[in-house]
Amino acid sequence: MKIAITGKGGVGKTTFAAILSRLYAAEGFRVLAVDADPDANLALALGFPEEIIAGIVPIAEMKEMIAERTNTPGDSFSKMFKLNPQVDDIPDKYCTRYNGVNLLTMGTVENGGSGCVCPEHVLLKRLTSHLVLHNKDVVVMDMEAGIEHLGRGTAQGVNAFIVVVEPGARSLQTYHKIKKLAADIGVKKVYVVGNKIKDQADKDYVLANVDPDACLGFITYSQNVVHSDRADRSPYADSQVVDEVKAIKDKLSALI
Ligand SMILES: Nc1ncnc2c1ncn2[C@@H]1O[C@H](COP(=O)(O)OP(=O)(O)O)[C@@H](O)[C@H]1O
Ligand SMILES: [Mg+2]
Repeated sequence: MKIAITGKGGVGKTTFAAILSRLYAAEGFRVLAVDADPDANLALALGFPEEIIAGIVPIAEMKEMIAERTNTPGDSFSKMFKLNPQVDDIPDKYCTRYNGVNLLTMGTVENGGSGCVCPEHVLLKRLTSHLVLHNKDVVVMDMEAGIEHLGRGTAQGVNAFIVVVEPGARSLQTYHKIKKLAADIGVKKVYVVGNKIKDQADKDYVLANVDPDACLGFITYSQNVVHSDRADRSPYADSQVVDEVKAIKDKLSALI
């Protein structure tokens, strides 16, 4: 099962991805959590200790490994590099494990920009595609806002996109944008999770603005989640929120 968590910035993608990953791990699945957001913070939300986080090197920053795989010794701007670098051993070799969750941090390509084709970019893209197309376990990808960076082939390997929204107009606009993009690249299953819900009116607002069949459920606005974020702790400690995510997970399992 491969799930990509998307949505507008700040809606709760990382919070949801972390709790979902922990729940799958608690059920005995082999979970690969992928932090595909350049502004990586999934490790903290998963509850990884500071000393482990300090040692995590994002894939994009592994210069030597990238040079070796893409055949670009010492010259990352070389125009002659392998477009099909070997990546199959990377998930096992470079992920960090804690609480039963294997975490892979992708990082960002500094000199990126749209249309950038550098060895780092090629490797990340191929790795993403490999994770999605060849992994038999549960893969939970915490994406950066938007899905433009997902290639058609890779996106089709994702079983479901889950768009996290808040009960507000802007995050719902993002949902509609993502839904359209997903359809353009052939992804049919696009679900919604309403987060930071304070009352029935919030639920009604979300339901009125999405395809109601696509809604997997709601997560309450929780002061515990706010506090855990401020204290750099995992939101997995909030039992009500965890139960809500569990219900969402069970509904998802029934659909894919
Ligand atoms: N259910 C919730 N209740 C209260 N605060 C929440 C909830 N979900 C997320 N947050 C808070 O919202 C902020 C953004 O969450 P985050 O998961 O980092 O969003 P994203 O990954 O989409 O940018 C964080 O401060 C987080 O603690
Ligand atoms: Mg995030």
